[in-house]
Amino acid sequence: MIRLNNIRKSYRVGSISVEAVRGVSLTVSKGEIFGIIGHSGAGKSTLLRCVNLLEKPTSGTVNVGDVELTGLPERQLQAHRRRIGMIFQHFNLLSMSTVRDNIAFPLVLAKLSKAEVNKRVDELLKLVSLEGHADKYPSQLSGGQKQRVGIARALANNPDVLLCDEATSALDPQTTNSILSLLLDINEKLGITILLITHEMNVIRSICDRVAVIDDGEIVEMGDVLHVFLKPEHPVTRDFVDQASDSAVTGQLLRGRSGRLLRMTYIGELTYEPILYNAVKPTSVQFAILQGTVSRMKHTPYGQLIVELIGSAGEIDQVIDVLRNDGLEVDAI
Ligand SMILES: Nc1ncnc2c1ncn2[C@@H]1O[C@H](COP(=O)(O)OP(=O)(O)O)[C@@H](O)[C@H]1O
Ligand SMILES: [Mg+2]
Repeated sequence: MIRLNNIRKSYRVGSISVEAVRGVSLTVSKGEIFGIIGHSGAGKSTLLRCVNLLEKPTSGTVNVGDVELTGLPERQLQAHRRRIGMIFQHFNLLSMSTVRDNIAFPLVLAKLSKAEVNKRVDELLKLVSLEGHADKYPSQLSGGQKQRVGIARALANNPDVLLCDEATSALDPQTTNSILSLLLDINEKLGITILLITHEMNVIRSICDRVAVIDDGEIVEMGDVLHVFLKPEHPVTRDFVDQASDSAVTGQLLRGRSGRLLRMTYIGELTYEPILYNAVKPTSVQFAILQGTVSRMKHTPYGQLIVELIGSAGEIDQVIDVLRNDGLEVDAI
């Protein structure tokens, strides 16, 4: 649905040139939620703005659907941009216009009749659960409600693609979750492809299918969310995983332990089974759980435990074999 091929973008600042995006290639499939995560200044917004050509890439090509946007003259580009909605961290609403007029704005630009505009706005208000707020002004809304208006406006022209630039970064955790559920809902019900950028692991973990990690203008790691976050390889990816898992505390806990330390990873239905207990039961091995996460990535449950096994080397090896046979990944730490 979206294909970026070797995108570069540099800015001139005085006499020097800053390269914000350095040769990014990626493909987002139709109906997918694809996340790009990176620290501040990594080049996320620049890259996202290259997708609808709000920024013109210095080189490289952008395809959305069957069309190469980078090859189009300005007039045709305008028409294709309507197929791409966008939402922003700070909502970018018109402060002097009501909710209804904010949502109607792209429809008026598309020259729909007044009756058509009103009908479509009513549908959109329902979709984002803002019925009853149509006549308010942005200053009378909470952050979450403002973002709902932003989403409704972005969806007004029935786009195929929604671009989200840090859409939840200005919101508290509870409101973030409600906006993420709304995005997931829109993706599943309307089949809209979503490309989002964020610096928050939670956003990726809650709704994305695949993720790319961007650092200093380059993609350093990319893959299924489960794979990338359970087995991070690049130091920047590890940073993000560590932020979410309290690894500083774990480091202290691990110091001075005399038993065998293991990281066990399990995915799917295994998450709810008494696997560890069953593996040690026939032996005299004892275990201590030093750190544990049981959570979910999008719809898939997973768990990761750091355990210390205490007992004879032979019996510990036997326990590890049983765990692996049960489908767990077991790594020595
Ligand atoms: N219009 C601009 N002019 C000059 N430099 C820019 C401009 N926009 C972004 N940059 C620079 O490009 C880099 C990436 O910025 P940005 O894409 O906003 O990162 P992110 O969204 O990941 O925080 C930064 O070093 C930033 O200073
Ligand atoms: Mg940004």
